[in-house]
Amino acid sequence: MQKTGVIFDLDGVIVDTAKYHYLAWKNLANKLGFEFTEKHNELLKGVSRVRSLEILLGIGNIKLSEEKKQEYLVTKNEEYLGFITKMKSDEILPGALELLDTLDSLGIKYVLGSASKNAPLILKQVGIFERFTGIVDGNSVSKAKPDPEVFLIGAKKLNLPPEHCVVFEDAIAGIEAANRADMVSIGIGNEETLHEADYNFENLTEVTSDFIKKLISVKNKKKHRA
Ligand code: BG6
Ligand code: MG
Repeated sequence: MQKTGVIFDLDGVIVDTAKYHYLAWKNLANKLGFEFTEKHNELLKGVSRVRSLEILLGIGNIKLSEEKKQEYLVTKNEEYLGFITKMKSDEILPGALELLDTLDSLGIKYVLGSASKNAPLILKQVGIFERFTGIVDGNSVSKAKPDPEVFLIGAKKLNLPPEHCVVFEDAIAGIEAANRADMVSIGIGNEETLHEADYNFENLTEVTSDFIKKLISVKNKKKHRA
């Protein structure tokens, strides 16, 4: 059997923090005098904090000084921290703990590959930080997804070549990053949105241990892409 490792995105795969990001960005938009909808929020998924602010300001057609941008990045994050510091294990998305158990029982190691600088805090809040072999977060990368950097560092932490790694992602940018890293990409969420993924599931409850066993038993894990 070929050795396999797993890299998990955090927001939208293991926990649903998008709703908290949304509330904090929405408040900022309102303060700046424009509406920020849930549809707009989709554009921020998987995107770094700094890039998220740029996108938000683009939506509102607002130009700010560097100083003001820094100030808003801090206030947005403070508000977001107010939400995530209240998170508990019941906010782990359905199927995530079962999947970690399956991987543990098969001896498959896993690391985190997230754009969030708050990723370690969130994992600690929900009580699963210690289970990960390594953490790659927004503090450890210089290039955001869809650049493959975050996942390539993850492969190093797993001590495996990229083609032996499987990535679970809910964002288009994340699937692109996994594909560019030559890893197996698994899209979690809307199949149409994530059609670039090698495999698609609506959520983690659909990822069975049989699927994982099959995945690690095939030599060439890549599905043929059109
Ligand atoms: C990603 C989220 O995981 O982290 C993005 O999908 C978010 O929406 C990004 O902007 C950065 O998060 P943070 O916690 O560093 O502000
Ligand atoms: Mg995500």
